[in-house]
Amino acid sequence: MNIVIIGTGYVGLVSGLGLAKLGHRVACVDTDESKIQRLDMGEPPFFEPGLSELLHDMQNTGHVVFTSNIAEVLADAEIIILAVGTPPGRNGEADLSYLFTAAESIGQNLEHEAIVVVKSTVPVGTNRQVIDRIRSVMKERGRDDLSPLVQIASVPEFLREGSALQDFMNPDRVVIGCDDEIIFMILDRLHDGINGPRLMMSVESAELSKYAANAFLATKISFINEIANIAERTGGNVLDVAKSIGLDKRIGPHFLKAGLGYGGSCFPKDVSALRQLAGVKGYDFKLLSAVIEANNRQRENFFKKVESNLVNLKGRKLAVWGLAFKNNTDDIRDSAAIDLVQRLYARGAELVVYDPEAMANARRVLPDGIEFVATPIDAARGAEALLILTEWPEFRGVSWPTLLDSMVEPKIFDGRNLLADLDLAKWGFEYHGVGI
Ligand code: UGA
Repeated sequence: MNIVIIGTGYVGLVSGLGLAKLGHRVACVDTDESKIQRLDMGEPPFFEPGLSELLHDMQNTGHVVFTSNIAEVLADAEIIILAVGTPPGRNGEADLSYLFTAAESIGQNLEHEAIVVVKSTVPVGTNRQVIDRIRSVMKERGRDDLSPLVQIASVPEFLREGSALQDFMNPDRVVIGCDDEIIFMILDRLHDGINGPRLMMSVESAELSKYAANAFLATKISFINEIANIAERTGGNVLDVAKSIGLDKRIGPHFLKAGLGYGGSCFPKDVSALRQLAGVKGYDFKLLSAVIEANNRQRENFFKKVESNLVNLKGRKLAVWGLAFKNNTDDIRDSAAIDLVQRLYARGAELVVYDPEAMANARRVLPDGIEFVATPIDAARGAEALLILTEWPEFRGVSWPTLLDSMVEPKIFDGRNLLADLDLAKWGFEYHGVGI
């Protein structure tokens, strides 16, 4: 099939390359011309395992093209996928301006029937607004005949950064929200070659499914973090508790890792947007307010733990391992690590930081006084404490005797419980995890 994808962020680029791999002809469109030029030269705009290789392969097969000229590629499009950003607005609501701008350019340029698929995460009711915009722009330019032939479908994306390609090819489910059996069959065919059950439902249910999934996962994280806080006060160990409750099939083992709370470009934004959407509909979604509050408090708790142990942060030399919002990504959006580094720096700590992938992005937002180094051991040299803020597995491979020799004080504050099972006390470290 001929596909046009508008937006080359995580969702758009991964889906575009994934669909190209399935054999479709894909045109990826973005208004950011420098991004398009870089993609054209084979440079992905962000780090994601396997993405660079897939980009080169798909460019070699000719299955994917990158362009800023939407009119040109719409001429052949059978399916148009909207994957633009929906960043948080001032009150936590999703900002839909990119989506509506894209809808308008479809309305202005499309000259034949097509299915418009919304992959961006959007509040319930948005798909209907998108199709209304497209049709009214078409009517304004005298194409009343065409407007009923353009159909809408909601196919939300559930991929995780760090395993996005894997998730695209092996989703737990493919949700297809549409009003029509034929559209469902076409979109089912679009996903031929992808594993996972297909679920047909209304557009509204599909939109809500995406928010509900992210909000539920965020709730699980806040819940286990609250248990961690109780464990610290009662002498329990959250790792044992998480293992025990995770074996209950009704609960499941995933998203029960206590730590610094959730970050990234999705959970914070989507939980707030769902709460905001509920409020607009006259419903106070109290559970989500508690989830957000618990998440914010988790970072604060960690900060206080470090501060109260070191007594005074001013002039204290601290090593930081990890800046990305989670491992396997260079993304620092709403990263707990970045937030904590900024707070510690504001209190006068001297910070030496290391991250395997996120240092270039972090340099753009962190103050000049923070030192960036090339290895975890370089960060630890002369440090009075080590803070682990992102769960990169490579940190587990460090030589503990070398680390011990490098540090002035052998204190480790592990915000991710990454080293909790290694019994670092036996090497002479003072180890502080979360909820253990
Ligand atoms: C999340 C969802 O997992 C995807 O299904 C969804 O498609 C995506 O948002 C989106 O809406 O686009 P992502 O933000 O890439 O994916 O990352 P996650 O792996 O879900 O992690 C989110 C945050 O929760 C990270 O900060 C992570 O460190 C934290 N987390 C995760 C925990 O603190 N504990 C856990 O047990 C799991």
